[in-house]
Amino acid sequence: MTKDLYCVMGHPVSHSRSPWIHARFAELTGQQLHYDKREIPLDHFARSVQAFIEEGGRGCNITVPFKFEAAKIATHTSTRGLLAQASNVLTFKDGQILADNTDGIGLVDDIERNAGLPLKGLRLLLIGAGGAAAGVLGPLLQAGPAHISVANRTLHKASELVARHQPLAEQRNTALEAHTLHGLNGPFDVIINATATSLSGAAVPVAAHVLKPGAMAYDMMYGPGAQGFMDWAQAHGAVPRDGLGMLVEQAAEAFLIWRGVRPPSGQVLAELRAVIQG
Ligand code: ATR
Repeated sequence: MTKDLYCVMGHPVSHSRSPWIHARFAELTGQQLHYDKREIPLDHFARSVQAFIEEGGRGCNITVPFKFEAAKIATHTSTRGLLAQASNVLTFKDGQILADNTDGIGLVDDIERNAGLPLKGLRLLLIGAGGAAAGVLGPLLQAGPAHISVANRTLHKASELVARHQPLAEQRNTALEAHTLHGLNGPFDVIINATATSLSGAAVPVAAHVLKPGAMAYDMMYGPGAQGFMDWAQAHGAVPRDGLGMLVEQAAEAFLIWRGVRPPSGQVLAELRAVIQG
């Protein structure tokens, strides 16, 4: 039997755990598919997607730095993809390119289901206003927290992101504000690092008093990239969590879009953590 073809496209992509995750999802749900990784030259993205479609590709995940371009080449984009202005999932069907963004729902699922913390009514701080933050703000609002502050080094980027999401915030009854990194009105129940500061060796960009005792401090990265933030959180009485669960949950949502089946993501997250920790 020929297997349906999927892949992840990025640059670099050699580190990607997505082929492992999707292979395990396919095994556990009895789906016949092949999923590989493709490192795409920086100026070849649209061409590479077209070539993959011609090869018979059914869909692909998109990672750094192509998420913005992916949103632009789509013929149809989901509501959450439009809000994010970036896409991590493309589906090819009947000559159309359908774009979606499952990063945010992946984050919310990891916090609510895997870590067991419902976000409804809580006070959240989202640090950063780049592509990573844009991908998650809509689904965070959908979860119905009481308040979200978006804090960024460059205030106008936070203000733009907040303005774009204000209608959704009003609909969800969530107070949504843009801030600089200083003078934040804490403390917060959950703080989410959507900057890559740990990876670059930079200090955590907010003061520790933003943390409520026992707050969840979530870094959207995992591995060495998340360590600085996780150590800081631990040292200040917060509960650190890395982004490995978000990675698995965004993949589970993509798998659901492509195959119509929700894989057992909690089991796969536990297995992946064991593989990584060796
Ligand atoms: P990504 O797609 O990963 O979000 P990005 O769009 O380049 O990448 O955004 C990076 C984010 O990290 C931005 O919010 C950036 O702040 P600026 O908008 O002011 O550039 C933030 N960031 C990067 N390095 C930082 C640092 N040393 N301190 C604070 N924020 C930093």
